[in-house]
Amino acid sequence: TTIYVPRDSAAVSVGADEVAAAVEREALASGLDVRVVRNGSRGMLWLEPLVEVATPQGRIGYGPVTPEQVPDLLGGDLLGGGEHPLRLGPVEDLPWMRDQQRLCFARVGVTDPTSAEDYLANGGMAGLRKALELKPAEVVAQVTESGLRGRGGAGFPAGIKWKTVLETEGELKFVCCNADEGDSGTFADRMLIEGDPFCLIEGMTIAAYATGATEGYVYLRSEYPDAVRTLRQAVEIAYAHGWLGENILGSGTKFDLFVRVGAGAYICGEETSMLDSLEGKRGMVRSKPPIPAITGLFGKPTVVNNVLTLASVPTILADGAAAYAALGTGRSLGTQVFQLAGNIARGGVFETAFGMSLAELINDYGGGTRSGRPVRAVQVGGPLGAYLPASGLDLPLDYEAFAEAGAMLGHGGIVVFDDTVDMAAMARFAMEFCAEESCGKCTPCRVGSVRGVETIDRIVAGQDTDDNLALLGDLCDLMTDGSLCAMGGLTPNPVLSALKHFPDDFTARHEETK
Ligand code: NAI
Ligand code: SF4
Repeated sequence: TTIYVPRDSAAVSVGADEVAAAVEREALASGLDVRVVRNGSRGMLWLEPLVEVATPQGRIGYGPVTPEQVPDLLGGDLLGGGEHPLRLGPVEDLPWMRDQQRLCFARVGVTDPTSAEDYLANGGMAGLRKALELKPAEVVAQVTESGLRGRGGAGFPAGIKWKTVLETEGELKFVCCNADEGDSGTFADRMLIEGDPFCLIEGMTIAAYATGATEGYVYLRSEYPDAVRTLRQAVEIAYAHGWLGENILGSGTKFDLFVRVGAGAYICGEETSMLDSLEGKRGMVRSKPPIPAITGLFGKPTVVNNVLTLASVPTILADGAAAYAALGTGRSLGTQVFQLAGNIARGGVFETAFGMSLAELINDYGGGTRSGRPVRAVQVGGPLGAYLPASGLDLPLDYEAFAEAGAMLGHGGIVVFDDTVDMAAMARFAMEFCAEESCGKCTPCRVGSVRGVETIDRIVAGQDTDDNLALLGDLCDLMTDGSLCAMGGLTPNPVLSALKHFPDDFTARHEETK
């Protein structure tokens, strides 16, 4: 009997390694024929460690399991998927799983992440095989027709970016995967790499074939040591199977892939800083144009895409662009991997077609706040995303609807706050974060953020409130219009939205003492 215990670092952080060891120990002691597989996480983080057992009725879940509960579990009818207080039922039938449309995350939590056999048995390499039957320009056309947009946050059409690289002359071209997932409340890149690294490798190889690139780099943040280990292992296995190297799948296509680890700067998630960092320099933002698609890594044409963008490509090629484009709404097509975090009862990863409302995701699937108190504010799209008030959550999750509401979807991170949050403190934090992480190249961001913190402090202290509010508005305008990149340019989003929706938080303390 196969028992699955996740190796994902979120599961490990709550004891999955100890649970796996206990299962092996107990099975040996009881003479049970058990094989433990370390899968990725299903993304139901409140249920970790989630133990699954393979039965003729499908995989039955039990969780969250502690090592101490393992003898009792194995002493009962665990191997038959039988009753136990921790039994959750067939995992695929749990509402959280059943109601998703998992394309990017189809295999995450299902397979052993470093088993090539598992990968092939679950649809792996079908996309690359299909791509290799097509001409590079036809692969690009498929990606364009699928409507896939950059999942890193900006939502730029992936096919158009690839077309630019394909059509730019260059004796050497690169594919760079941005895995410097720095946004607050985001962890999908990590979970994909830890749970299905071959999918990213396959997506990057397709991108390379489509654009004429022969070398690729994954820029992975140092805060993700488990992902680094898993990906390096997967790259080695991919070489051994002819999925990377000189003659990919016998097609004569060449693509070499390297993993590079960042050093902890948020700004290295900005694509041009990332390229500087990959070149061995300190990560500083470059002026655009020229865009990386034309002048990228070492000055060569370079595809820079986020993990989830690249990991969406195999399924697009395998199932066809039309199938992907049939999902979603308006110009937001396909699926997005949303991440529920912060003060939330049920946090984790939820992949669904664009269009579901934010309120539905937070309340129906997330179960509201973990504290049980009312939701007061939600920040979507990382530290540069706007705060939405509880009254504004009835918003469809699509790029345009969010933009219209003055917010952004970004990389799909959703951070929930209850009614104890101090929004003036959150606004101050946004400016402080910018001051801390600014690369220092341009004045509106480098100096503006420091002045922003001081101005918010004066407003909260009740010093010349009206003048300082006006000053903060001017400062935000200047940062928005004058910053070289999104770091300084978008920091006003959380600040101004906090001010707009929660003005009392900035002035109440002062009013009370009047
Ligand atoms: P951008 O709009 O400048 O560019 C988006 C992408 O399109 C870039 O790769 C750019 O090179 C490319 N591009 C633009 N015009 C092109 C053309 N004509 N041909 C080919 N390619 C073209 O946005 P930027 O500054 O790259 O990203 C900002 C976003 O990053 C924000 O919206 C935010 O959501 C997100 N972000 C994500 C983080 C994460 O951890 N995932 C962290 C911080 C920000
Ligand atoms: Fe650097 Fe900030 Fe200017 Fe971006 S906005 S280039 S992070 S100083």
